Amino acid sequence: MRAGLRLLHALSRSRPSVRLSPLQLRRPLSCSAPRRDHHEAVSAADLQFGQPVHETHPHLLAPGELTRGITALEYAQRRDALAKALPPHSVAILGASDTKYRSGAVFYEFHQDPDFFYLTGFNEPDALAVIEKRGAEEDYVFHLYVRPKDVRAEMWEGARSGIQAAEDVFNADISGDIKTIGKVVPDVIKRSKNVYTDLPRTLDHRSAITRYLSGTMFTGDNGFPKALKAVAPSAARPLRPLMNDLRLTKSDAEIVNMRKAGRESALSYNNAMARSWDEEKMLALDLEVQFKQRGLDGNAYVPVVAGGQNGLMIHYVRNDHRIRPNDGILVDAGGAYGGYITDITRTWPNNGVFDPAFRDLYTTVLRVQTTLISLCRESARFSLDKLHAQACTLLSAGLRDLGFDMTQRGAIETLFPHHVGHFIGLDVHDSPGFPRSGLLKERQCITIEPGVYVPVDDERWPEHFRGLAVRIEDSVCVGAEDPIKLTSEAVKEVVDIEALRRR
Ligand code: GLY
Ligand code: MN
Ligand code: MN
Repeated sequence: MRAGLRLLHALSRSRPSVRLSPLQLRRPLSCSAPRRDHHEAVSAADLQFGQPVHETHPHLLAPGELTRGITALEYAQRRDALAKALPPHSVAILGASDTKYRSGAVFYEFHQDPDFFYLTGFNEPDALAVIEKRGAEEDYVFHLYVRPKDVRAEMWEGARSGIQAAEDVFNADISGDIKTIGKVVPDVIKRSKNVYTDLPRTLDHRSAITRYLSGTMFTGDNGFPKALKAVAPSAARPLRPLMNDLRLTKSDAEIVNMRKAGRESALSYNNAMARSWDEEKMLALDLEVQFKQRGLDGNAYVPVVAGGQNGLMIHYVRNDHRIRPNDGILVDAGGAYGGYITDITRTWPNNGVFDPAFRDLYTTVLRVQTTLISLCRESARFSLDKLHAQACTLLSAGLRDLGFDMTQRGAIETLFPHHVGHFIGLDVHDSPGFPRSGLLKERQCITIEPGVYVPVDDERWPEHFRGLAVRIEDSVCVGAEDPIKLTSEAVKEVVDIEALRRR
């Protein structure tokens, strides 16, 4: 990094969003805003970006924040941390998500690649981030290649932030048109000893990155990076493990975002549990509307909204049946805030009163769940796998007390067929592939979600429990000595659920 750039970069790190604040850009961006005299400063509030920025969306973003709750400074610190983890003369290359198509030109809602988002805060497709550590020092160069401003394209697709904003807003040291990556990236690779990337595995054959790197870095649509083979066969390394390490431990700001997602989602559940429902789809809609009304981004994942025996299907997402008055309801849903998810499941009687069998089964699961949550502290020295083993032990004992014959082969695996928890963060199943065997550490966020699903026509189990499904799930941040409960507002004691109808 040149001295001048370094100064600017250091300035931008210590004063997040300095290039945009206070409301004046030092030079005009080339953009779809009306043309202005180049000597005149342009107010950022008059410009259009591909995503909210403080100056255009002060109701969403505080000064200094690049995305909701996360400052430009924190994004720079994340890149610093990745650079620190890279060996000397290494580069990390990350692609933005593609636009995914349902058919023809009909696209799905865009969702940014979580690793790319984590390091850049940039929320558009067709972009490439490069973190290049040229020497042995921790210093590095942050490149960001994006779609350029284009009046005609933006008329169809909505505003883009553009190349200038990649530097001025997103703090890239080097920015450029995504179309140039076929020239730039092979050179970057050639001067690096190690190339950390998960490309092209994450790409669609129609993506701009595939198109522009085909014949240079990639052999074909989904080929192995050709340039790596040609230049340094052993240089290619997966980036995933480094990103998992970074993302596993949450910052204060990330925990605040997850708490906001958790609290608002939990309060939405209480309203939903306070009345009866005729149709799964209306209950699903009600929760989604409440998430948005309460300031969340929307659904964090496709929810399970299951009446009666539909709850026996772990990933039931059709949500299109009627719910009968005496059915149990199982809902696995959560909102997101600033991209950070929450993951909640509640199970309750549609008529507001637990019958004896439902109450017994529910209480058994609840006791196990609250015990496991109390173990979500570093001092307890539990891993997710160890928590799962504990869940199996406790559930088996509780079910035996209810008359289940738990000595049968595979009994607990039949009745409780999924894991008790997973990491959460930007992804519902965060830090994908990270082993669940490591001891939980402070600031790791997880779910605790024991469940019991009693098959309908299986005479091995007591008749009055057959067809019942109970799962209770909360999102929790591991503390040093105490768990931080992220979704504690969603009531779950039997008396509290029943009391909701009397509110
Ligand atoms: N909501 C997805 C899960 O609980 O894993
Ligand atoms: Mn979960
Ligand atoms: Mn869930």
